[in-house]
Amino acid sequence: MPLTPVITEHWDQPDLYTRAGYERTGGYQALRKALATEPDAIINLVKETGLRGRGGAGFPTGLKWSFVPQGDDKPHYLVVNADESEPGACKDVPIMIANPHALVEGVIISSYAIRASHAFIYIRGEVPEAIRRMALAVREAKEAGYLGHNILGSGFDLDVVVHSGAGAYICGEETALLDSLEGYRGQPRLKPPFPAVAGLYSAPTVVNNVETITNIPWIINNGVDWFRQFGTEKSPGFKVFAVSGHVKRPGIYEAPLGITMRELLDFAGGMRDGSEVKFWVPGGSSVPMLTADHLDLPLTYEAMVEAGTMLGTGTPMMFDQTVSVVKAVTRWLEFYKHESCGKCTPCREGTYWITGVLKTFEEGKGNDPDLDLLNELCGQIMGRSFCALGDAAATPYPAAVSLFRDEFLMATHTPVDTSFDPALSYAFSEVAAR
Ligand SMILES: Cc1cc2nc3c(=O)[nH]c(=O)nc-3n(C[C@H](O)[C@H](O)[C@H](O)COP(=O)(O)O)c2cc1C
Ligand code: SF4
Repeated sequence: MPLTPVITEHWDQPDLYTRAGYERTGGYQALRKALATEPDAIINLVKETGLRGRGGAGFPTGLKWSFVPQGDDKPHYLVVNADESEPGACKDVPIMIANPHALVEGVIISSYAIRASHAFIYIRGEVPEAIRRMALAVREAKEAGYLGHNILGSGFDLDVVVHSGAGAYICGEETALLDSLEGYRGQPRLKPPFPAVAGLYSAPTVVNNVETITNIPWIINNGVDWFRQFGTEKSPGFKVFAVSGHVKRPGIYEAPLGITMRELLDFAGGMRDGSEVKFWVPGGSSVPMLTADHLDLPLTYEAMVEAGTMLGTGTPMMFDQTVSVVKAVTRWLEFYKHESCGKCTPCREGTYWITGVLKTFEEGKGNDPDLDLLNELCGQIMGRSFCALGDAAATPYPAAVSLFRDEFLMATHTPVDTSFDPALSYAFSEVAAR
């Protein structure tokens, strides 16, 4: 299957991040077309494409938009989730740095469709370059009359605020993000009500991922059949895959959903010399790991679920034989323990205990019975915590121990190599000074 650069097509042009650069590639034509269309028709079009949210859960985007009550005399909001903090996930930040105007154009069209006159782009605070580029793009779009009052004479008004978070993973969870945006400590809200009904300032709000919204201009320009020629019936379209780890050329590869990991790996130059795939994770640390036996599965939402994992953010991390599974799982649990917001007991206490027990294995002092204890602890978190961060924390260990039990048993008497590996700094949210 070939690569299909759509969102990434012109990323080699150094001035693509400017309005002039984006317009030279056809930018803002979709906006003119959209403003001449009824908002409901745009919602229906997006529904028909079958576009699924690229933030991790794969919820159908058009359906989410259709939940926003219309004619309710309340303000509506669009919030773009640009928090991207999951270990291994790195595709929204590159999109915002390379082509911020595509996201701005998507924001304007999406806001018009759901009848929002205010939109927010909530960006992870640790990526100043993305924040600067988004702020510049919003300023340039306003100067050109694409934002503000009476956009292109259509009667539609929209203001966009670029807001930077303070760098907490939980603020990527959509309701914690809304609390943070309102100025509160970022902690999840009880659902229902869902944001589409009562979101920002209790008004109907659509929260969508950066990549999801960036798809919109191309969908408006090219239509349903064009979009559906890529991917599968249940996973239509293309995906900005970010491949990291022990591959020769880590980076962004845009391809139709349904490409296999083996094909993506070929595009990434294969594993580094002397390396073979030991395990890999299709989309961030929150989804169960797979092995070399799974390289020929299509990367779709449905095939990944069938294989016992999830497509997640579609940012595969590849690990070779030098990586201890015990170390990988311990690093991820340390991350979840650190990022647990503390609101609910199963996640707050559970991540603390799991990490503590895993550390004994990492030090070569684990006990056999603790392997089952760890499974039990994960079971106490899964489905019992207040938000999906708890479930995510309970995910890596069960898959790891079922695939690599011998390695955990070895860690009952032999310490694990925990030396820093720069190739995995992104996968483990780990820096050399740690
Ligand atoms: C702990 C946690 C962190 C999350 N982080 C992000 C994130 O950084 N970006 C994102 O788009 N979605 C993130 N999500 C998912 C969002 O809650 C939400 O489902 C998503 O923004 C919806 O957008 P989509 O429908 O376009 O995928 C996170 C969820 C959880 C539980
Ligand atoms: S699951 Fe974790 S992050 Fe989510 S509310 Fe509970 S303590 Fe907070």
